[in-house]
Amino acid sequence: MAIVHKASLLAIIGCLCLCGAAIAARELNHDLPTMVARHESWMAQYGRMYKDAAEKAQRFEVFKANVAFIEAFNAAGDNKFWLGVNQFADITNDEFRTTKTNKGYKANPVRVRSTGFRYENVSFDALPATVDWRAKGAVTPVKDQGQCGCCWAFSAVAATEGIVKLKTGTLVSLAEQELVDCDVHGEDQGCEGGLMDDAFKFIIKNGGLTKESSYPYTASDGKCKSGSNSAATITGYEDVPANNEADLMKVVANQPVSVAVDGGDMTFQFYSGGVMTGSCGTDLDHGIAAIGYGKTSDGTSYWLMKNSWGASWGEDGYLRMEKDIADKKGMCGLAMEPSYPTK
Ligand SMILES: *[C@@H]1O[C@H](CO)[C@@H](O)[C@H](O)[C@H]1NC(C)=O
Repeated sequence: MAIVHKASLLAIIGCLCLCGAAIAARELNHDLPTMVARHESWMAQYGRMYKDAAEKAQRFEVFKANVAFIEAFNAAGDNKFWLGVNQFADITNDEFRTTKTNKGYKANPVRVRSTGFRYENVSFDALPATVDWRAKGAVTPVKDQGQCGCCWAFSAVAATEGIVKLKTGTLVSLAEQELVDCDVHGEDQGCEGGLMDDAFKFIIKNGGLTKESSYPYTASDGKCKSGSNSAATITGYEDVPANNEADLMKVVANQPVSVAVDGGDMTFQFYSGGVMTGSCGTDLDHGIAAIGYGKTSDGTSYWLMKNSWGASWGEDGYLRMEKDIADKKGMCGLAMEPSYPTK
């Protein structure tokens, strides 16, 4: 009981440090008692518990190094985006990179991309300058995949929720758990990873997907339960031509799109806000959804992405990534394998 008490008191102190007196905080942050307090307060905030003192000491060292990296990155001041001490602050980037937990896109080199592309004749010049599908009611609140590598299900569901809303007028939150439990006879393997295109194939074959409220998310592999799948149906899916941000823009102007990215870099791990720019890998390991695009007042074009790491990650659970970069693969490989359901 005493420990819980202390933790919540420290959470308040931690908050004060973050909200005020930046200079004082910067000087204090790196002395040991303050850093211990920040770790404790962070543990309370994210409900983190360690099995013993040794694990806690080891995780504290990682936390301290991550905080130093985040503060140095932000202090450099020449970035278009900034980082924050989020739920991944006590794991190393190697751990973040190699575990499928919180990600789970299964790269498949032998995969054949579909050839149909219904937006091929859309006039590029006629596209709106800004798109945000949230403003059109086509995006459900940000979800949290937790410790389960089924980003592919969240990404496919976000795009499906979008097209269903646009075709039927109704926004329904759909069940990722049905994909995790039931889409197990092909490439997709629940918390062990999967592909958005295979999720679309399953949804078509399954006669649709049920509502989130009828099949709640558990963040673990479970037994497939049958139920009504009529909440949302799709008739097909198409792949956006690879490595072409202009074609991707034609689709995103018309509907939310599933996008695979390399979500393994430290800048992805700790992204807190702004437009992600600079170098990033292209080893696709994470699925998200492009739900819009736009341009900042300083002229930086961006994609607006919905992630599935909860609303406390990034910009209330969303992320902006630089658009139209020199590398045709796009920022973090976002233009390599985008796809969308059709109806
Ligand atoms: C685009 O235009 C070409 C030429 O008119 C046509 O052959 C093709 O079917 C069109 N594509 C779509 C998806 O409508």
